[in-house]
Amino acid sequence: MTTMLLTNIGELTTNVERDGDPCGTLHDSALLIEGDRVAWVGPGAEAPSAGDAEVIDAGGRALIPGFVDSHTHLVFAGDRADEFEARMTGTPYAAGGIRRTVAATRAAGDEVLRARLRAFVAELHAQGTTTFEVKTGYGLTVADEERLARLAAEVTPEVTFLGAHVVPAEYAERPDDYVELVCGEMLRACAPHSRWIDVFCERGAFTPDQSRRILAAGVAQGLAPRVHGNQLGPGEGVRIAVAAGAASVDHCTYLDDADVAALAGSRTVATLLPGVEFSTRQPYPDARRLIDAGVTVALASDCNPGSSFTSSMPLMIALAVREMGMTPAEALWAATAGGARALRRDDVGALAPGMRADLVMLDAPTRVHLAYRPGVPLVHTAWVGGRTVA
Ligand code: NIG
Ligand code: FE
Repeated sequence: MTTMLLTNIGELTTNVERDGDPCGTLHDSALLIEGDRVAWVGPGAEAPSAGDAEVIDAGGRALIPGFVDSHTHLVFAGDRADEFEARMTGTPYAAGGIRRTVAATRAAGDEVLRARLRAFVAELHAQGTTTFEVKTGYGLTVADEERLARLAAEVTPEVTFLGAHVVPAEYAERPDDYVELVCGEMLRACAPHSRWIDVFCERGAFTPDQSRRILAAGVAQGLAPRVHGNQLGPGEGVRIAVAAGAASVDHCTYLDDADVAALAGSRTVATLLPGVEFSTRQPYPDARRLIDAGVTVALASDCNPGSSFTSSMPLMIALAVREMGMTPAEALWAATAGGARALRRDDVGALAPGMRADLVMLDAPTRVHLAYRPGVPLVHTAWVGGRTVA
């Protein structure tokens, strides 16, 4: 078993609440890794003797839990830079653009998709993301959704079946037949590779009734629910998610008081995806209102070729702080512990004995630099399960 002692950590974010600080911040501390787990965390002066452990001097740098990106759409082919360019000169974002990526993805072989996926994983690691979810949703036939779920499962246990991303062109005139397919044959093909069921509950995608039906079908097959809701306008997405006991409802850009109250009284996390508002030039969700109401907030990238083609969690933190009224500490927590809650994971998102040794050493003295130095690559080293990945 490999052991590693990190010493001289200038600022350590543990996310184990301490004296009213949800980030459980320690200074001048040390951390011991045994195998793939954190074995000890505490003041440097009390660190266990190194023995055979490899000693790494952090040189006063900040150390944080690896980012948990609970919302990505990384299995796809094609490019939609032209759509982005048009949007920047005034064409609004519409859910229908998904169909373009569906056509390109169906035409791509497994090897092409696999190579792109692996490149994305390297991109995520290089930016400090150590746990990530991946959705299907660009296949939308039984065979294509099955292969996207299977390919995603090669790189993460957090696979989400999103056959209900948009109604594909060939079903445009008979959407209920498509819902039938999603809830039946497509779900049965994808469930063995998936942990989650998701639905895009939005005008132009799936109606509230269809959404409820799809979530219930997934739950009946042993999948746990999560929802895309309230992205492009007000709607029932949030309340459907809460009623279904969803782990998370994602976007939450247009909320009324009843939505906020429903979230506050539930275990459903509100996952905010500010890369979308940045890339579609829309108003940002009101994180302050959610946090002040007692809602658990997560930040995720929503990395996808249409509405947010970035995998950078540091960018999400910078946007959350600059544009959404979150403090640097709240944003860091939401991008790590919040993401873990959104995936109902208790082994990642914090640094304490027994947790997986997923951590990032920043080339910076404090986590504030993630928002203070936007766009600057600050990941010095990233470890997943005690192994260096970047
Ligand atoms: O999360 N909301 C639905 N899906 C993506 C957009 C996907 C696309 O435009 O290709 C999202 O924003
Ligand atoms: Fe999404």
